[in-house]
Amino acid sequence: MKYGKITGYGKALPKRILTNEEIATFVDTSDQWIQERTGIKQRHVVSEGEHCSTLATESAQKAMAHAGVTADELDLIIVATSSPDFLVPPVSSMVQDMLGAKTAGAFTTVVGCTGFVVGLIQADNFIRTGAYKNIVVVGVEVISRQLDWEDRNTCVLFGDGAAAVMVQASDEPCGVLSHVMGSDGSLYQSIIHPSGGTAVPATHETIDARQVYLKMNGREVFKFATGVIPKTMSELMEKSGKTFDDIKLLIPHQANARIIEYASSQMGLSNEKVFVNVQNYGNTSAASVPIAFAEALEAGLIEEGDLVALIAFGAGLTWAGALVHL
Ligand code: COA
Repeated sequence: MKYGKITGYGKALPKRILTNEEIATFVDTSDQWIQERTGIKQRHVVSEGEHCSTLATESAQKAMAHAGVTADELDLIIVATSSPDFLVPPVSSMVQDMLGAKTAGAFTTVVGCTGFVVGLIQADNFIRTGAYKNIVVVGVEVISRQLDWEDRNTCVLFGDGAAAVMVQASDEPCGVLSHVMGSDGSLYQSIIHPSGGTAVPATHETIDARQVYLKMNGREVFKFATGVIPKTMSELMEKSGKTFDDIKLLIPHQANARIIEYASSQMGLSNEKVFVNVQNYGNTSAASVPIAFAEALEAGLIEEGDLVALIAFGAGLTWAGALVHL
């Protein structure tokens, strides 16, 4: 029996930082409103030459270097994103080429903000079955290119970035102890790009109607998110036989500090047990959990041997959780 040990991590962020004050110069909003309602102070956004593929590659290279894994040794590359360079080809193949991982398989997992946790569960299962030994899992988003920068309901919330983890086969018991995956497609319209897919291809009319940008029903998503975090957490505990006391840190999807605070109070979790960095990055969708995970490791808040709960939710609507033994 092999276990999926996380042996390396790395993050990659666009150079340009966009503050709330700067956004307030071109849409009707304020730093105070954004901070009070979301906790966000700034976010990173791509500039010319920075893409989903380049950010993903940089973060994967860092995770591989950290683990001491070369491109030749990679078996599989899993890239979680909803903002790839192109709809076709899969961005994971561009990343495979940029890494020079000539013998690795590669695929893209498209599950909105939930994607990285799903990718990690996939990697862990590939390793447990004995299929692969060295898998890099990336969460990456260039969501700034999908936003309507005239829509204050959405443009203030998101940011770009990437982070990756290296998952390697190990004989010592570790990796994903329990996991949860869920979907409620009846709410699919809550977070949607109305036009640009195959149901409503982009036309001059849909572009003029600003239907080619991300739309969101903020209140509905807020209600869903505050309920799904405690639900997923208790399912992770039930499936693993662990309790909240056994957990060193909960790393939830960084969508909104108020969602995290509300859900944490519902579970009776103290602030020091819940990681928050949304103030610096906004909601980076599939990149949010791995960026937070990398920062928690960098800060020494978690280390080898600890139990960490990762919980994400987003478009679909979907959710996923993984209880990871580091
Ligand atoms: N600046 C100023 N005012 C804004 C604004 C902004 N950026 N965005 C919305 N408003 C206004 C609204 O127009 C509304 O005005 P009205 O009452 O005159 O209509 C008012 O603020 C309150 O809107 P409301 O939707 O009740 O605010 P809220 O407290 O629920 O916060 C969100 C809005 C989007 C921050 C919140 O609903 C949220 O975080 N939802 C979850 C979103 C999310 O996490 N999505 C991704 C999940 S993966």
